[in-house]
Amino acid sequence: METMKNRVAVVTGAASGIGKALSLAFAAEGSSVVLADVEDEALAAAKAEVEALGVTALAVKTDVTDEESVADLCSATLEAFGEVHILCNNAGVGGGGLIKNQQLVDWKWVIDVSLWGVINGLHHFLPHLIEAEDSHVVSTASVAGLMAVPGLAPYNAAKYGVVAIMETLHHEMMRDEEANLGVSVLCPGVVRTNIATAQRNRPEHLRRQKGESGSNAAKAPEEARKRNSAIAAALENGMEPSDVASQVVNAIYDRRFWVLSHPELLGEINHRNQELAALKNPTLISDFT
Ligand SMILES: NC(=O)c1ccc[n+]([C@@H]2O[C@H](COP(=O)([O-])OP(=O)(O)OC[C@H]3O[C@@H](n4cnc5c(N)ncnc54)[C@H](O)[C@@H]3O)[C@@H](O)[C@H]2O)c1
Repeated sequence: METMKNRVAVVTGAASGIGKALSLAFAAEGSSVVLADVEDEALAAAKAEVEALGVTALAVKTDVTDEESVADLCSATLEAFGEVHILCNNAGVGGGGLIKNQQLVDWKWVIDVSLWGVINGLHHFLPHLIEAEDSHVVSTASVAGLMAVPGLAPYNAAKYGVVAIMETLHHEMMRDEEANLGVSVLCPGVVRTNIATAQRNRPEHLRRQKGESGSNAAKAPEEARKRNSAIAAALENGMEPSDVASQVVNAIYDRRFWVLSHPELLGEINHRNQELAALKNPTLISDFT
């Protein structure tokens, strides 16, 4: 993309963390920004921060798991601005726990937001992005989309899915002579955001069932609590979201597919790929416990 001045950017999960930083970064480049999130108050506050940079902003309360809600986000964007140039499918949630201790609602919640949120966004916005003369789509995956971190199976599954979808879209856009759509996937390591409290947005009907049967159901809370507090501690020392956002802005200007904000993790990813190439059973270099 040559310029972001007077362009229209849509960001999901824009009320916090990486999404808010992306919204501010696009505003700093001169784009109008549509901020989408389930959290009302935080969304209004993020919109005010974006407007303070002197651009037009629109806040649309959106649940990315709900296909109609994403359709409404797309309509609201087109009604306000008539076009869309940048889409960041960024909303995502995660939580820890061993597979043997997971309940089906754990899988459903994480995959609904972190994978279906991306699918819903692409489904509704892709025709309009392709129609624009110069446009770009970025979806937020994770390094957990490139290597299987123990204790994060639903999250890994969602993020591997996001990488696969975006890689497919990249190949398809490269062959499409009518489209001028850049494609990127953002795969961060640990970033200092509010993701450790992602449960704050978990719908009531997808909360863990206390009485659910299963040999390990009773042990799940303790094991998951330990893992989640370790994740929360790591997040405190994570990269600043604004640093991740500026890497995304640069990737859009450069039409770069991979946005690996933590290149130090390439060693672990390459180790996995080398074992695959040698048909060796997977091992990990790091102790993710
Ligand atoms: N923080 C990290 O270390 C890290 C690392 C790798 C990838 N990521 C990914 O970055 C993305 C952003 O997360 P973050 O770390 O900024 O967390 P965050 O919790 O600070 O922000 C996520 C935002 O998504 C919103 N959200 C949750 N459910 C939603 C829904 N159904 N519809 C719309 N919005 C919803 C939340 O309200 C919140 O504002 C996620 O996809 C996450 O998986 C984060």
